[in-house]
Amino acid sequence: MTGFSRRVEQVSISGIREVFEAAGEDAINLGLGQPDFPTPEHAREGAIEAVRAGEADGYTSNKGTESLREAIAGRYAADAGFDVDPAHVIATAGGSEALHIALEAHVDPGEEVVFPDPGFVSYEALTHIAGGEPKPVPLRDDLTMDPATVEDAITDETAVFVVNSPANPTGAVQSPADMREFARIADEHDVLCLSDEVYEHIVFEGEHRSPMAFAETDNVAVVGACSKTYSMTGWRLGWVTASNRRIERMLRVHQYGQACATAAAQHAAEAALRGPQDAVDEMVAAFETRRDVLLDGLADIGLSCPTPKGAFYAMPEVPEGFVDEVIDRGVVVVPGDAFGEHGAGHARISYAVTVETLKEALELMDEAYQAVR
Ligand SMILES: Cc1ncc(COP(=O)(O)O)c(C=O)c1O
Repeated sequence: MTGFSRRVEQVSISGIREVFEAAGEDAINLGLGQPDFPTPEHAREGAIEAVRAGEADGYTSNKGTESLREAIAGRYAADAGFDVDPAHVIATAGGSEALHIALEAHVDPGEEVVFPDPGFVSYEALTHIAGGEPKPVPLRDDLTMDPATVEDAITDETAVFVVNSPANPTGAVQSPADMREFARIADEHDVLCLSDEVYEHIVFEGEHRSPMAFAETDNVAVVGACSKTYSMTGWRLGWVTASNRRIERMLRVHQYGQACATAAAQHAAEAALRGPQDAVDEMVAAFETRRDVLLDGLADIGLSCPTPKGAFYAMPEVPEGFVDEVIDRGVVVVPGDAFGEHGAGHARISYAVTVETLKEALELMDEAYQAVR
């Protein structure tokens, strides 16, 4: 008899897509999870040159080219202050594949995966796909994840807990003290801390530190990507770094599922990582300006919103019916419960749009608020 696996039947297509479909074609889209900037020219050139030279036609090593992995390690040494062995990096098809292979390699059927709620939609879906049990945990009032909540949620069945900072959908940035605690919890409970750091460079306030910098065991794996930092979501290039034994297990999944990341994208990523970083600084400055415009606008409307310190999302508390009224007026925002039960009563607003567009959207949000209050 043909049928479908229980694992896949537990997963549905993201609620975010449904929102896009509900909005008209010329809606203002504040639902997108990608920067609205071009990929830096030198990154594009890196791929173009490789394609022209015939260097992007064949498979690369399963882990990715040595020089890309060296470039990734180089950025950690320069920006994060810890050493990564290029042999302990797998280049993946975006951060998404990195999360997938990490969970496949570490979670047995029935084992638990603890993650933030509201949190990025992949954590729950990929846990199901790995046969695991999702254990979403609520956040603090400022939308950061309390290490104590994570520690309380850990049982003998827990295989992994996910940390995501700066975070989607909240824009929250965990403090270095929290990150130190996450590392301690991973060490003491012998559980893997999967640290999703794809927004690591988009920080306006506070400081991004990886739990990797504090861990005393090899119980931290870090996921990174070019997607958000260099506005390269379409290139599909991310990575995971961890100890040798963990990389070796994740490589088994990657080798059979993917073989290697796309060669042309690897060349673009290497050029982005090795080249000038000004485009990143400019993008972060633009996001900060937009964040301030959005926060002021939300406050004027009367919506309360913890100040997002990174990424390009804000998550205000909204009254019942607000999201539908906003969408009816042609502005796409995502209902908070698309990111977990505790996201209910909130909306995720992506500010990867121009200040003019944001101002236009804020006027319509004000009208929507007046309609439901
Ligand atoms: C928190 C988080 N992790 C990972 C990803 C996946 O990114 P990528 O496009 O590199 O697969 C996203 C994308 O939205 C994200 O928001």
